[in-house]
Amino acid sequence: MRTLLIAGNWKLNPASTEAAAALADDVKNGLGPATDVHVVLAPPFVFLSRIDQALENSPIGLGGQDLHWETSGAYTGEVSAPMLVDVGCTHVIIGHSERRHGMGETNEQVNAKLKAALAAKLIPIVCIGETKDERLGEKAEAVLLEQLAGSLAGLTAEEAAGVVLAYEPVWAIGTGLTATPEQAQAVHAFIRRWLSETFGEATAARIVVQYGGSVKPDNAAELLACPDIDGALVGGAALKAADFLAIIKAGQEVTARGKS
Ligand code: 13P
Repeated sequence: MRTLLIAGNWKLNPASTEAAAALADDVKNGLGPATDVHVVLAPPFVFLSRIDQALENSPIGLGGQDLHWETSGAYTGEVSAPMLVDVGCTHVIIGHSERRHGMGETNEQVNAKLKAALAAKLIPIVCIGETKDERLGEKAEAVLLEQLAGSLAGLTAEEAAGVVLAYEPVWAIGTGLTATPEQAQAVHAFIRRWLSETFGEATAARIVVQYGGSVKPDNAAELLACPDIDGALVGGAALKAADFLAIIKAGQEVTARGKS
């Protein structure tokens, strides 16, 4: 079984360094020194150094929410992969739908960012997912195929094995609407088939594919128990330590029990 990865994407929250450090402290103290699921916190850039300090001596990884594909130069407002590594990041989220749809990020840009992350030895969490209209128009699979092929273009199987994917149906993000475990599992199986055809079965079996979109303490166990769902990318519920810890606990229970 692939090790589950539970990541908290804090997005544009919380409002202060103090609140961010308190949230990280609460997660760290609630989790304890060892865990059999991987846990990552992805705060806004400006809090990364402080959260890295807070997470000292804990198994929790640190993630950026984005990066630029260049390492330096005239790119106002941007942050590079080596900079993220320098402040303690282990992971970076790439191609979140709020960037694809809100900021016009393309598959080509996602691909360039992914290659920059891999070059810096950051673990990329590459997000894909269809909108409500695309799903209703029965275009979800075509959109996912385009995002997968475009985002992962040019990767070797070995490189692909080190990528984390996050399937986040846009219609489920922040809406309280979650894909049912059956809906999510069907898409995850579809993604894994594509990975298998593209990179080979052995590589596809190693790639962690998270689900994201209104994951909460009360739906996490069912989602995480699905055979092809290898973790969760959590937004709103990651801002409350108790909720995020409950989602991690659901992952630990699935891990202890094993999947069918
Ligand atoms: P919510 O959990 O708030 O729906 O957000 C999901 C998400 O976008 C994580 O990246």
